[in-house]
Amino acid sequence: MLKGKEIVLGVTGGIAAYKAVELLRLFTKAGANVHVVMTRSATEFVTPLTFQTLSMNPVSTKLFSLVSEREIGHISLADRADLVVIAPATANVIGKLAHGIADDLLTTTVMATKAPVLLAPAMNVNMYQNPLYRANEAALRRLGYLFADPVRGTLACGWEGEGKLQEPGIIFEEVLSALAPKDLAGESLLVTAGPTREELDPVRFISNHSSGKMGYAIARSARRRGAAVTLVTGPSSLEPPYGVDTVPVVSAAEMRQAVLERFPACSIIVKAAAVADYRPAVRAEEKMKKTGETLALSLEKTGDILAELGRLKGERLLVGFAAETENLLENARQKLEGKNLDLIVANDLSQEGAGFDVDTNRVTLLYRDGHAEEIPLMGKGELADRLLDRIVALRARV
Ligand code: PMT
Repeated sequence: MLKGKEIVLGVTGGIAAYKAVELLRLFTKAGANVHVVMTRSATEFVTPLTFQTLSMNPVSTKLFSLVSEREIGHISLADRADLVVIAPATANVIGKLAHGIADDLLTTTVMATKAPVLLAPAMNVNMYQNPLYRANEAALRRLGYLFADPVRGTLACGWEGEGKLQEPGIIFEEVLSALAPKDLAGESLLVTAGPTREELDPVRFISNHSSGKMGYAIARSARRRGAAVTLVTGPSSLEPPYGVDTVPVVSAAEMRQAVLERFPACSIIVKAAAVADYRPAVRAEEKMKKTGETLALSLEKTGDILAELGRLKGERLLVGFAAETENLLENARQKLEGKNLDLIVANDLSQEGAGFDVDTNRVTLLYRDGHAEEIPLMGKGELADRLLDRIVALRARV
């Protein structure tokens, strides 16, 4: 996700400095080359050696220690950065930046960079509410600085309230957003994901193997790219994506209702959910008893949500998925046309590493003009971005 990116991670002196270690791990795991810059007081909390070992780059702490023959430390860091993130960011560093004070390597680097700067404040609740701090934060926001807001909790000083460093996973998510193109800004996306469950009785249901991974990846990427995203999801063990309005449902009927309620406000709909085509005609009130050697179930059709949206779509862009085990392209094209879609993602479940409950997928995109585009095996996150690229291009045409 961050392959080829150069990130400057600034660490300032607060008890939450140890959490910057976890953040660094997330960056390096995602492929970024990270340069850690610590203020003098940050080194009181965590040793530079920890960051140096994990980043595999020298840790910079002093303004003038990096002056080498050909490059000046803070300028070199400022120039090479794709993004500067300061976590934790103390009231002190935020105050300095708001007033243009550059008296150490970190503040000089921030002053000299043209890259986006993300600040993750962490401080005592009273400092956080102090009007001086508030004014500094507001001034930086006006200048385009990004913030990963702190959360409420028990603070190291013993106080309860806002001021606790945001979770590293969420700061990481904000970094991905800061680096993503904002080509879906102004769009409102409705994504469906996961399976549905159709109950037979209070303890049994009919369902399928969908994990939600594909739909969640689309929702996550679309938010990073600036869309307002609603995710209607069947039962899934995945964490709701950060910043996405997540609506949990269980059955196909519940999914239909949730989708139809939200559909009018949306400009793009992507239906990655594996919705049951049939449900038990009758749901037994009590647990069904074991009786004969065989048991015949009577099933009735569920409503086809996507086909219904196809009739109502108007100017909206409608994208479906087709999960097939045979005649992939023929069946998918029938769904594309029969359900009045703009694009369908044909998912061959017989392919290794594709389809249900795996982290990768391999699909063919079918368009209304008859064009077919094969997308090779890749991670579902990467595939989500490819699909969104195509959606952006289709939107540009209308
Ligand atoms: O969740 P994962 O584990 O990551 O797996 C991903 C996936 C395999 C579920 C996903 O990539 C996928 O292929 N989703 C579509 C699964 C499916 O139900 O396909 P279908 O061919 O049965 O349905 C065609 C389309 O109609 C789908 O967009 C489906 O959401 C929609 N549909 C189907 C039935 C119904 N009653 N209402 C619908 O809206």
